[in-house]
Amino acid sequence: MESKIVISAVNIRKEYVTKKHFLTGKVKEKYVAVKCAAFDIEEGKTVGIVGESGSGKSTIGEIVGGLQEPTYGNILYFGKNIKELSDEEYQDYRKSVQFIFQDPKGSMDPNYRIVDILSMPLLTAKIAKDKKEAEKLVDDMLFRVGLDLSVKNKYPTEISGGQCQRAAIARALLVNPKLIVCDEPVSALDISVQAQILNLLRELQRELNISYIFISHDIGVVNYMSDTILVMQNGAIVERGPAKEVILHPKENYTKKLIESAFM
Ligand SMILES: Nc1ncnc2c1ncn2[C@@H]1O[C@H](COP(=O)(O)OP(=O)(O)OP(=O)(O)O)[C@@H](O)[C@H]1O
Ligand SMILES: [Mg+2]
Repeated sequence: MESKIVISAVNIRKEYVTKKHFLTGKVKEKYVAVKCAAFDIEEGKTVGIVGESGSGKSTIGEIVGGLQEPTYGNILYFGKNIKELSDEEYQDYRKSVQFIFQDPKGSMDPNYRIVDILSMPLLTAKIAKDKKEAEKLVDDMLFRVGLDLSVKNKYPTEISGGQCQRAAIARALLVNPKLIVCDEPVSALDISVQAQILNLLRELQRELNISYIFISHDIGVVNYMSDTILVMQNGAIVERGPAKEVILHPKENYTKKLIESAFM
């Protein structure tokens, strides 16, 4: 069976204007965060992005999920340019690409309980018709991501980092995403908790056939999670391939260094 491509990044480039003329507004200086990136993300598969700090990993993730526009190039969602989607299709695309970040507490409003935070997108997207129905879906999902229901009535600051990341995964899953951009999702967690979260993500992928972009500076973690790996350096993809091939037979010195530093 032919695999379906959820997202294609077609020659995307991102320039940030870092200096403008104070009167004319003319661009005087720009910084190229992503030079020219092209890749596909297949249904049910993980594309890992690895590279040192500032290499452009998060920028790519944000562009794929529509949080930022590329300066040049295009994002295709199931083969369709997102610039040409109808309002309804665009909303479906934005809902279908969810995010999990390094700091789950930072991505949750501290003034709301977990149940409210997780219900909100369900009500906004009209997946649940009222609060009661939303709460039922939230309960089921909390169970699925391995959380005790007592977490529900707590505030993000009252639960552990690992629990909060599970809640963030639940929030992402509740709207039935096709792709989750996982941006350093375990970098702030203890080693033992890291493994639990990584295994949970893998289990959910098998069950739900979702795709991931898995971003990390840790090539060991990326290797564990990914089908294919993109290695980024200074805004460019310098090496790519099936995960095992990139790890066992790296071609670029930069990749070799990343591997050495991870496994030393
Ligand atoms: N809004 C912005 N304006 C100017 N430069 C920016 C902006 N956002 C990001 N950059 C720069 O673009 C480059 C790429 O940033 P990005 O966040 O994508 O890197 P990263 O690989 O995710 O790094 P990290 O591992 O530290 O998260 C960095 O040098 C960053 O300073
Ligand atoms: Mg980043």
